[in-house]
Amino acid sequence: MSQNSHQGTPATGTSGTSWALVTGSTSGIGRATAVGLAEDGYAVVVTGRDRDRAAETRRMIEAAGGRAIDLLADLSNSASVRALIAQVQDAIDGPLDVLVNNAGGGGFAPTESTPEETFDTHFTLHTKAPFMLTGAFAPAMAERGHGCIVNVGSLSTLMAAAGTAAFQASKGALSMLTKSWTAEYGPRGVRVNSVDPGVILTPTNEGIRDALKGLLAKVPAGRGGEAEDVANAVRFLVSPKASYIYGVTLTLDGGQTSVVTL
Ligand SMILES: NC(=O)c1ccc[n+]([C@@H]2O[C@H](COP(=O)([O-])OP(=O)(O)OC[C@H]3O[C@@H](n4cnc5c(N)ncnc54)[C@H](OP(=O)(O)O)[C@@H]3O)[C@@H](O)[C@H]2O)c1
Repeated sequence: MSQNSHQGTPATGTSGTSWALVTGSTSGIGRATAVGLAEDGYAVVVTGRDRDRAAETRRMIEAAGGRAIDLLADLSNSASVRALIAQVQDAIDGPLDVLVNNAGGGGFAPTESTPEETFDTHFTLHTKAPFMLTGAFAPAMAERGHGCIVNVGSLSTLMAAAGTAAFQASKGALSMLTKSWTAEYGPRGVRVNSVDPGVILTPTNEGIRDALKGLLAKVPAGRGGEAEDVANAVRFLVSPKASYIYGVTLTLDGGQTSVVTL
């Protein structure tokens, strides 16, 4: 077996438990990813702002026989990101081999009426926090010669919608970081990739399901995605089966951006 085929494989035993940190794992895509990575053998750091939902994800993992800790952080606040990094470093008893930069949220408005704080929130949550977390954990992965980072982007890296400019720009920056980190850490065994979800049926869009019906009717898959559809892609990207996949973005939109309706 080549050295690369080990990338992303949970290492247990003498080298200790292999850990995965999934941001935004108190809900939706992040929760499904955290539960899935635990099934794959990782001990998981669950994080978000909501204490009850963080504990619920941890308990879901534990009930399935996995191992998890939950740590609270507001990733739109740099001091809170720094505190999370220190807490993770203190709490885990093995290498952090997987980082999933998933936490994200809305706050949409036309450019001229987007408050500066909203712009800053998007860029801290979607770009700066992943940047800080990667800066904190990727060097140790590189030193060990293996590790995986997955950034959860959005179709906004491919196409624009009016009224979401700050969100889209911040996700676009994250998309570029996938390539920057592939250049930086890839040669030392750290694989960095992205997933770009289309419409995924999670709590974030619960209130606009009726409005999404028309769009989803035109999606070749004939439905919106489930959180598990994205989680499965992340699980694949961090697995040895993806050991030659570096710096790509996997679009998970049921075919939405591949077709035009004639
Ligand atoms: N669902 C879709 O259709 C879709 C489409 C494209 C992209 N995405 C992306 O997929 C990712 C996950 O979205 P989702 O659909 O799973 O949404 P969700 O169910 O609302 O989950 C969002 C997660 O992000 C966390 N989060 C939000 N703001 C945070 C903050 N300031 N600090 C720390 N954590 C924060 C939330 O945790 P707390 O509430 O506990 O803080 C929650 O765990 C996001 O990056 C989103 O942009 C989703």
